Amino acid sequence: MKPQILVTKRVYPEAIEYLKQHAEVDYEGTDDGLAAADLLARARGKQAIVSQLTDKFTPDVLAKLDGSVRVISNVAVGFDNIDVPAATERGILVTNTPDVLTDTTADFAFALLMAAARRIVEAHQFVHSGAWSRWSVDLMVGLDIHHRTLGIFGMGRIGQAMARRGLGFSMRVLYHDAAPVSTDFPAEFVSKEQLLREADFVSLHVPLSAATRHLIGEAELRMMKPTAVLVNTARGPVVDEPALARALREKWIAAAGIDVFEREPQVNAELLKCSNAVLAPHIASASVATRMRMSMLAAENAVAALEGRRPGNLLNPEAWKG
Ligand code: GLV
Repeated sequence: MKPQILVTKRVYPEAIEYLKQHAEVDYEGTDDGLAAADLLARARGKQAIVSQLTDKFTPDVLAKLDGSVRVISNVAVGFDNIDVPAATERGILVTNTPDVLTDTTADFAFALLMAAARRIVEAHQFVHSGAWSRWSVDLMVGLDIHHRTLGIFGMGRIGQAMARRGLGFSMRVLYHDAAPVSTDFPAEFVSKEQLLREADFVSLHVPLSAATRHLIGEAELRMMKPTAVLVNTARGPVVDEPALARALREKWIAAAGIDVFEREPQVNAELLKCSNAVLAPHIASASVATRMRMSMLAAENAVAALEGRRPGNLLNPEAWKG
C-alpha cells in the first residue's frame, strides 16, 4: 500500500506531481491552509506532512498527532514553527529547505537595504502621486551604501551571502554570532555592542529561538547610529516591533527594510505610518525558481524519509533510526 501524505497548503504543482508518484496525497491546495484542528484531523493515518511556516507544531499539537506521522517536511529554511525536540521525543523526523534559497534571500535583504538607504519606495510614491514639480539639489537625498559598514547578526549561509554582496559594494563587514565563523572573505567578528555602535547597516540573519527573540529591542536600537538602517529578513520576533516603530518615528535610526513581522500578516500600526520603513510581505525567498525548488526539496525530503532513505535536510538526526 502506498504511504499517505498530507500537504497542508498550496505548493508548486510539480511537487504534488512528484509526491503522487510515491504516495497517496491529501492536498489542501489553498493559500489559507488548515486551521489547527483541521490539520490534526487530516493528519490522521498520514505518514508524512509537508508543512509551511504558518503551520504550528507545538508540543501540544505534536502530542495530539495519532502516531502515524514519521516525518514533517517544512517548505522553509526556518523551522521555528516546529518544536523539534518535542518531535524528536516522538520519533518524528523534521526537515527543512536550506541552500536553495540562500542567494535569493540575500539578494532581497540587499534590495531592502538599498531601497531603505536610497528611499526608492518614497521616491516612487512621490513620482506616482504627481508631487514632483522640479529638480532640486537635495530632493530625496539618502544614504551612501558603498564603503560603509555592514553589520551582520548570524553568519550562517544567508549571512555569508549577504556579506559577499556587501563586499561587492566595497563595504567593511562586521558580524556577530555565537562564535567566530571561518570565511574565505574578510569579515570581522565583533561583540553585539560594537556591531550596533559601528554598523551603518545592521542586517539580521539569525534563526528565531528563545536566545534571539527581541535580539533588537529599545536598548539595541538606541545603541545604533542615527544614520543607521536596520534590515530584517530573518523572523519578525527577532525585533521588538513597537520599539522599532518608535525608533523610526523619533529618528534614533534613519530607516529600516523589513520583510518579516511579529504577528504576520498583521503589521504594527505605528510601523505602517513610518515613511522611512520599507515593508514587504515575507517574500525574501520568493523568486519563481527558488519557491519551486523549495517545494520540490520539501517533497523529496518527505519521500526519502518514507522510503527509509535519510533525508538530505534532516534537522533531528537523533530521531533517525536508519
Ligand atoms: C522563509 O522565511 C524560510 O524560512 O524559508
